[in-house]
Amino acid sequence: MRILSGIQPSGTIHIGNYFGMIKKMIESQNDGELFAFIASYHALTSVKDKEFLQKNIFEAAVNFLSLGIDPNKSTFWVQSDVPEVLELYWILSNHTPMGLLERAHSYKDKTTKGIGANHGLFSYPVLMAADILIYDSNIVPVGKDQIQHVEMTRDIANTFNNAYGEILTIPEHKIDENVQSVPGVDGAKMSKSYGNTIDMFGAKKNLKKQVMKIITDSKELHEVKKWDSCNIYKLCELFMNQDELESLQERYLTPGEGYGHFKLTLLDKINEHFAPYADKREYYTNNPKEVKEILAHGASKARVIAQEKLKVIRDAVGLNY
Ligand code: ADP
Ligand code: TRP
Repeated sequence: MRILSGIQPSGTIHIGNYFGMIKKMIESQNDGELFAFIASYHALTSVKDKEFLQKNIFEAAVNFLSLGIDPNKSTFWVQSDVPEVLELYWILSNHTPMGLLERAHSYKDKTTKGIGANHGLFSYPVLMAADILIYDSNIVPVGKDQIQHVEMTRDIANTFNNAYGEILTIPEHKIDENVQSVPGVDGAKMSKSYGNTIDMFGAKKNLKKQVMKIITDSKELHEVKKWDSCNIYKLCELFMNQDELESLQERYLTPGEGYGHFKLTLLDKINEHFAPYADKREYYTNNPKEVKEILAHGASKARVIAQEKLKVIRDAVGLNY
């Protein structure tokens, strides 16, 4: 069984990315053959700054390796080091109805927010379909907001297969049922484009600043507080076991402490959770050559598979004559 997922190097990764998708993806190394890539082509839809993109690609690689992608077990590469995917993107574009792309939430959300729409953003689900289909992926671990893109991939693959025979493998998405959507410091979905994130590996001072920004009601120290609707509590749920959560509930119900105290508890839990990855992160950050070698090796493994699949597809559509 082949499991494939990608993440865009378009900014600093946050705990929403981690719990929504990265964690599941890394754990899936035990369930099958993992193909994980840094979606550099996709990032071009929003990043227009050369140094920023280069820095983000490298940081994404360091983060994924530190969090547990094992390059001996999995194939890990940068999307644009396997350019064959772009050829499949074009072929699939001819099996993608305009209406399908017009219905994409991600495109609609971004344009509603005033993010300028260009063709790259509009057609990005077709490139994502090419990513998935060129590697014959069976399972695609994603966050909730990416499910629609995997469904579009299935539609595109079925249309193609109806025209040329059973050539493309129909994938399925996989989400973490326990973590639907991680809230940001303002209670809305955590997203780098909303500026409401809590970073995973932020500098201690910065992380504290982000946690302290979490919006709560204005109950004071001497008042009993509601834990079930509190943003701090919702974030604590990601880091605490049942016993810890019950004792936190007690603290909400017992006058004497304020939200500032609960925020510090959350901050400790975040630091504790990501501390084990810090050494590896420092190591990879200081050894860029090794990181680049790992990525190059991953790309060469991925490229062999992509080239084989593309050959079959080119044959099927009549490009090999
Ligand atoms: P962002 O919204 O910050 O731009 P991306 O769109 O790059 O994040 O998402 C990368 C991955 O992380 C996707 O699979 C997405 O579903 C997941 N993800 C992002 N934000 C959240 C969140 N708040 N809760 C759960 N999953 C999330
Ligand atoms: N679109 C995904 C995101 O923004 C990243 C991505 C690109 C991806 N290609 C993919 C995810 C293929 C899974 C499979 O998060």
